[in-house]
Amino acid sequence: MHKNNHYPVMLNEVMEMFAKANIDKPNKNYLDGTFGRGGHAEAVAKHFPDLDVYALDKDKEAVDFAQKNWEPQSKSKKFFIEQASFASLDSVIENRNWPEKYDMILLDLGVSSPQLDQGSRGFSFYHHGPLDMRMDQRSPLTAEEIINYWSEEELVDIFKDYGEVFKPYNVVKTIMRERKKGTISSTQDLSSLIERSVGWRKKGKHPATQYFMALRLVVNKELEDLKEGLQSLMKHLVPGGRLVVITFHSLEDRIVKQVFRNSEYGKPVNKKVVKPTRQEEVENKRSRSAKLRAFERIIQQSIEEAQ
Ligand SMILES: C[S@@+](CC[C@H](N)C(=O)[O-])C[C@H]1O[C@@H](n2cnc3c(N)ncnc32)[C@H](O)[C@@H]1O
Repeated sequence: MHKNNHYPVMLNEVMEMFAKANIDKPNKNYLDGTFGRGGHAEAVAKHFPDLDVYALDKDKEAVDFAQKNWEPQSKSKKFFIEQASFASLDSVIENRNWPEKYDMILLDLGVSSPQLDQGSRGFSFYHHGPLDMRMDQRSPLTAEEIINYWSEEELVDIFKDYGEVFKPYNVVKTIMRERKKGTISSTQDLSSLIERSVGWRKKGKHPATQYFMALRLVVNKELEDLKEGLQSLMKHLVPGGRLVVITFHSLEDRIVKQVFRNSEYGKPVNKKVVKPTRQEEVENKRSRSAKLRAFERIIQQSIEEAQ
């Protein structure tokens, strides 16, 4: 177990991708777009001497924690962190005077263990808490609002499109009925409602899993941020620099694969997606759905000029 109660997923694979980047200069800029508890950032900072670390996280709690506690135990020269989405990198660069170009960029998507483990954040059906699910506490949309106020059609659509639930109709009908009696306001209200309407079908997989995943993706605009963010991050790589992305959802992986393949700025490093080792899957259950893809910025003057 990592010291901050968070395993950095596929750490060896991430390090290998960065170590093989086509960059030959001593001072490097590393951008961590999903800082969390800084597990990956710490390893990168230890490995590369003279590194400046620029970090983003939507979550104020993660930013506060980093400002108080983060000690990279490395020769890292500078450390900056902002509460912002990686999709807003352009405005952070402008407002905070951050560098335009980065040698290594990492996105390790989804929620962190501390977010999942705190009932008050509302991400997990294993912990009692409000139906919140916001990574960015400043954002107005919560899961409670979606469950209690969105139309029947909208609920069916999000569970199908984002949760990949084939037939969410029973669950949605039960939500519509229950919300007439009173607000569905807690993670337990929703998970027990789902359990009652569809029962357990697969041993070891809570029936609410896909429903909670769909709500989280919508509340945090995760797929939209990813599409927008990738385009901008590729532009902010130095020639030869690498962007590494770890996803936990097939829809996210599809976006990464397509954006990397179709980019004029460079090319995917690996044709096939990289998955965790069997050993990591055994040691860290969360890693089982992880997929890693890397992108390398082309070393071509014409692309630089085309920007
Ligand atoms: C899986 S954790 C990252 C863990 C980190 N790599 C570590 O080793 O500690 C994902 C983090 O990314 C943040 N996050 C998710 N989407 C984001 C986005 N679009 N912009 C910025 N941060 C985001 C979450 O708030 C969470 O803290």
